[in-house]
Amino acid sequence: MTTGCPLPEAEPQTGLHVLRGLARDRSLLTAMSIMRDEVGPAFRITLPGFQPAVMVGPDSNRQIMVSQRDHLSWRKESDPVTKLLRHGVLVEDGDSHARLRGHMEPVLLKPQVVHHVPAMLAYTDRVTAGWADGATADMLVEMRRLALLIFMGTLVDVEFGPDMDRLWRPILRAIKYISPGLWIILPNMPRFGYRAALDELDAYLYALIRQRRAQLAGEPPADTTKPAHDLLTQLVRAPEMTDDLIRDQILTMLIAGHDTSTALLAWVLHLLGEHPDVMARARAEVDAVLGAAEPTAANVEHLEYLDAVIKEALRLYPPIHVGNRIVADDAVIAGYELKAGTRLMASIYLTHRDERYWDAPAEFRPERFARDAERPAAFTYVPFGGGPRVCIGATFAQVEARVVLGRILQQFDLTSTGRRVHAYMGATLEPHPGVFLRVQRRQR
Ligand code: HEM
Repeated sequence: MTTGCPLPEAEPQTGLHVLRGLARDRSLLTAMSIMRDEVGPAFRITLPGFQPAVMVGPDSNRQIMVSQRDHLSWRKESDPVTKLLRHGVLVEDGDSHARLRGHMEPVLLKPQVVHHVPAMLAYTDRVTAGWADGATADMLVEMRRLALLIFMGTLVDVEFGPDMDRLWRPILRAIKYISPGLWIILPNMPRFGYRAALDELDAYLYALIRQRRAQLAGEPPADTTKPAHDLLTQLVRAPEMTDDLIRDQILTMLIAGHDTSTALLAWVLHLLGEHPDVMARARAEVDAVLGAAEPTAANVEHLEYLDAVIKEALRLYPPIHVGNRIVADDAVIAGYELKAGTRLMASIYLTHRDERYWDAPAEFRPERFARDAERPAAFTYVPFGGGPRVCIGATFAQVEARVVLGRILQQFDLTSTGRRVHAYMGATLEPHPGVFLRVQRRQR
């Protein structure tokens, strides 16, 4: 092992930094930004029971995500994410991780994803049909409803509408269960109020698996050289996948897949509401490219400005704002010695706002991602991570965002109600308390 130096610690002012950040806008992110500014791009948080190494920037991102990944594992057994997702691809390491990814990746490649565009559109129209003219809608709630319908309807091939109300709370409880909280410093603390909700979610998922097995058993054998259109069918067809393992993957994809899309769509709508000039330009593009035609896999590819808006929203508010790892054996990362067992956080949020790599990083400037603009340097822009653990749903999420947002801009005028929003660190980075926009169907 090459040698490195110890990580700088934010002591003795850490407590003060955190308190200042929390007092300013109740956000740990602000506290971390202050530490990054005052201590540097690599530092250790030294709170009782919580001493992660935080790293910011392309070198550490590359090492954590690619070159040094074999020294890192995903999470501890005691982590709520591991307890909830058990052997889901997100929490597995090594061969098991590679095998599970191998089963699911083919379903999420572009040629498969575009097959789902008509369904993405139909669900968007279904949700927006409930928007009363002139009323205020909370886009955080509306986008969650939509992301759930789309995920279940396309990647699980199940109509989720009839179960939405019953499972809404269990899903939110599952998300709360894995969101940062006191458990980080008190890993053995009992967690009450989750069991019934998680059991209800499990009962639903196991029933779906049994139904799909029964349905496929009655059909002629499939051509397994071609991927299925949905993940559930794909997994049920794989002989080595037990019901337990399939439940773990579907729950993983459900949580990782819809909560992130919810956050992205809500952030874009918030930013458009705050920047009427950007909204007007995005809408003009939608009118020029789509006119009155429905969004399709082909025409949404031409929504270049909207794509830049989406990318810039992902830069400012990356739904997954940190890559979490545990150091498996003593390692040197970005020149710093890290002992086995250290919790390591690659801060995507702080990398995306680092003045060394971005001009005026706090400003919302979609033109950074214009087709003719210089591309960000490698590993300075990592909203979907990188390396072998790069987001498996990145293509799906980006196609979905263009279809949903293109359709909404085509059909609605949206105006901000001026309610203040802050970035809340839940399982994803969410606009809280919500994104309240006035909606008006456009006259064409
Ligand atoms: C805007 C939407 C999304 C964002 C910003 C996002 C972001 C990310 C990031 C940053 C990672 C890597 C985390 C790390 O290295 O620790 C990741 C992994 C993952 N994402 Fe996404 N994601 C999104 C949508 C989706 C969707 C739609 C799905 C499923 C359909 C999905 C499923 C996953 C899974 C299963 C992993 C773990 C992959 C592995 O460990 O091999 N994500 N995502």
